[in-house]
Amino acid sequence: MEIPQRNLALDLVRITESAALASARWLGRGDKEGGDRAAVDAMRLSFNAIDINGTIIIGEGEKDDAPMLYNGEKVGWVGEGPSVDVAVDPVEGTNLLAFGRPNAISVVGIAPGGTMYDPGPSFYMQKLVVPESAREAVDLDAPVKDNLQNIAKALEKDVDDLMVFVLDKPRHKELIQKIREAGARIQLHSDGDVAGALMAVDARSEVDVLMGTGGTPEGVLAACAIKGLGGEMLARMDPQKDSEKRALAERGTDLSQIFTVDSLVKAEDVFFSATGISGGTFLPGVQYTGYGATTHSIVVRGRTGTIRRLESSHSWEKLMRFSAVNYD
Ligand code: FBP
Repeated sequence: MEIPQRNLALDLVRITESAALASARWLGRGDKEGGDRAAVDAMRLSFNAIDINGTIIIGEGEKDDAPMLYNGEKVGWVGEGPSVDVAVDPVEGTNLLAFGRPNAISVVGIAPGGTMYDPGPSFYMQKLVVPESAREAVDLDAPVKDNLQNIAKALEKDVDDLMVFVLDKPRHKELIQKIREAGARIQLHSDGDVAGALMAVDARSEVDVLMGTGGTPEGVLAACAIKGLGGEMLARMDPQKDSEKRALAERGTDLSQIFTVDSLVKAEDVFFSATGISGGTFLPGVQYTGYGATTHSIVVRGRTGTIRRLESSHSWEKLMRFSAVNYD
């Protein structure tokens, strides 16, 4: 009998839990930076407890702008642990947190060293995310109506049964119009397309599809989760500003390349964890009880497709540990 390998996802959940516990104190305070800083500090501290030799590929930005969890930073307790690429978003949906809106989550993904796509200067990509049973039904170049009809057929639904997650942004005016003309239903969210992508592939969620343009780093993070959850994401760079276009041209990026989950993360040994910060349809948020707190997380292992949903109770002592980081 083969000895089970270590499941790093169970270590990762402690990291996203700590970031959620620290940042949920900022819910609705209107302070985007404060909430993010609390999560970054807690996450950075928690990485020290994990035996990995990690390099951040998807982080808080370039070193000059981000004092911690910056792209290229080494994280983990460097012992005998494996060399891994790390993707973090301590608060995915900083505005959702700041204004007390649903679906702010804390997320981390890891993959073997050298296997995670490094977006470099790319900020935005067009994404189309569907559940496993519709993976063959989609084509990024097909008209919206054709994609929705093919997805509906693959999911054994009518088009007007479908629920499409779209970020509520001016750039999506035409896309929203086309989805409406095709007859599908739409959920408009101001932010949070990692949660949107996860909802699209999660059979428990009422969302069937994610369409539209969101962050490129968020695309890589979502790919880490979809590895284990099943489903597909088709994506292509969609620069929104001239400066982004120029930077991508200087790097020699082919803007016509279509990415899949497997080309964004070129390995199966991938681990992902997400913990709810503000309660939403995807994950309940942090609930403070007066003598501690409860968190809800989803942890995913790519190689085996094991998905665990965890409810954790945290003691007051633990909250104080992160509060010290929180209020310094
Ligand atoms: P932040 O947590 O960094 O604020 O990102 C939230 C988010 O909504 C992502 O989910 C999404 O991919 C991206 O921003 C979209 O960017 P923009 O708001 O500039 O359209």
